[in-house]
Amino acid sequence: MTRSHPLYHITTFGCQMNKADSERMAGILEDMGYAWSEDPNEADLILYNTCTIRDNAEQKVYSYLGRQAKRKQENPDLTLIVAGCVAQQEGEKLLRRVPELDLVMGPQHANRLQDLLQEVYNGAQVVATEPVHIMEDITKPRRDSSITAWVNVIYGCNERCTYCVVPGVRGVEQSRTPEAIRAEIESLGQQGYKEITLLGQNIDAYGRDLPGVTETGRHLHTLTDLLYYVADVPGIERIRFATSHPRYFTERLIKACLEIPQVCEHFHIPFQSGDNELLKAMKRGYTHERYRQIIDKVREYMPDASISADAIVGFPGETEAQFENTLKLVDDIGFDSLNTAAYSPRPGTPAALWDNQISEFEKNDRLQRLNHLVSIKAAERSGRYLGRYEEILVEEQNPKNPGQVMGRTRGNRLTFFDGDINELRGQLVKVKISEVRPFSLTGIK
Ligand code: SAH
Ligand code: SF4
Ligand code: F3S
Repeated sequence: MTRSHPLYHITTFGCQMNKADSERMAGILEDMGYAWSEDPNEADLILYNTCTIRDNAEQKVYSYLGRQAKRKQENPDLTLIVAGCVAQQEGEKLLRRVPELDLVMGPQHANRLQDLLQEVYNGAQVVATEPVHIMEDITKPRRDSSITAWVNVIYGCNERCTYCVVPGVRGVEQSRTPEAIRAEIESLGQQGYKEITLLGQNIDAYGRDLPGVTETGRHLHTLTDLLYYVADVPGIERIRFATSHPRYFTERLIKACLEIPQVCEHFHIPFQSGDNELLKAMKRGYTHERYRQIIDKVREYMPDASISADAIVGFPGETEAQFENTLKLVDDIGFDSLNTAAYSPRPGTPAALWDNQISEFEKNDRLQRLNHLVSIKAAERSGRYLGRYEEILVEEQNPKNPGQVMGRTRGNRLTFFDGDINELRGQLVKVKISEVRPFSLTGIK
């Protein structure tokens, strides 16, 4: 069948960085004349943007790929691409495992998709995983939302947490210039976007690779400076940022968040473990006391701030008592939400080679116990909203109830209320919270 436009489909796994990369790659494909296909089985080009943070994330990719590789045997014109973190980790090995692949490209190469595809059309099977300087992308991303948008500010990560593949697959830190970031946000404001989330694996590291220091030796470009620099972009009502690293989190940043009305009172600061020995083995570079001080400081300035985090259970050597220190931290702090994961040994990371691994049974048991506590605490945190007026930025229709719209509070709680999406999309609406659940709210306009 010949169509006026060839069709493409992208499936995205993993974190917000991958989502942002997928939106840029979709923009490039549409610029090249491709049109979106919801159904991968109709597409002429399929791109899997992959994640390898845990083993189950990686395995999911292989099962999807297997199906499309089979389709390609019947339809040799199908273009099959693996991008993202599995591509970076496996490189050439992926071609041996799935010889039907046309292109294997690491995350640093996302903006080069058009050039790489040209090589594919010229008949080559291409692997692009060498470290590169990430070029500014001139194509307009095809964004999933018309209200909220991701904006990358720093790529890569220079930390060496002993469990983590990210530095290996995303490479060294590369900050975008404040000017390029502001230009992107200005364009978003002009297109009607209302909320942006600045993205980096360790966003507090923003700017330390850019030239320039102040008289006191501080880097000229820090996340705090960036927030002040982009705060007044016309049309942008809300600014968020993620992910914060406890080691680099500063009081200056908290003050900026308080001072800049657009910056939302929500902080995502992963702690990973509540036990000092484990934190040391993870090479996180802080203690649980230090982490608690940071949260105290945030709450001193903004008593109502939402706090979320990530935690790992079953890290090698974790004893029951050490796990209980994590439970204790979660109980004491009362997170609004917490992403929890059972430790998964990853190729190329130090902790994967240690001989004190915890059994799958124990890991799952701890994960369930932690998740149970997390939802109790989240329910408590939701409780404080009951009867209060909250500002909701309306994003979408409630998929389960077309008579309702949904959006988020400034603290990032998902909230539903009765209303017409065509009328309310993109509006900031004050609603009175009438029902609370651990991870969502219902309000009345
Ligand atoms: N840069 C962020 C998080 C990056 S990865 C930070 O420093 O916190 C997202 C989350 O995945 C991590 O916070 C961690 O909780 C989890 N994670 C990373 N590696 C993992 C592994 N090997 N096993 C289980 N969870 C892992
Ligand atoms: Fe991974 Fe640590 Fe970097 Fe986060 S800071 S991405 S956990 S190495
Ligand atoms: Fe996964 Fe890569 Fe993000 S490993 S979590 S997609 S940085």
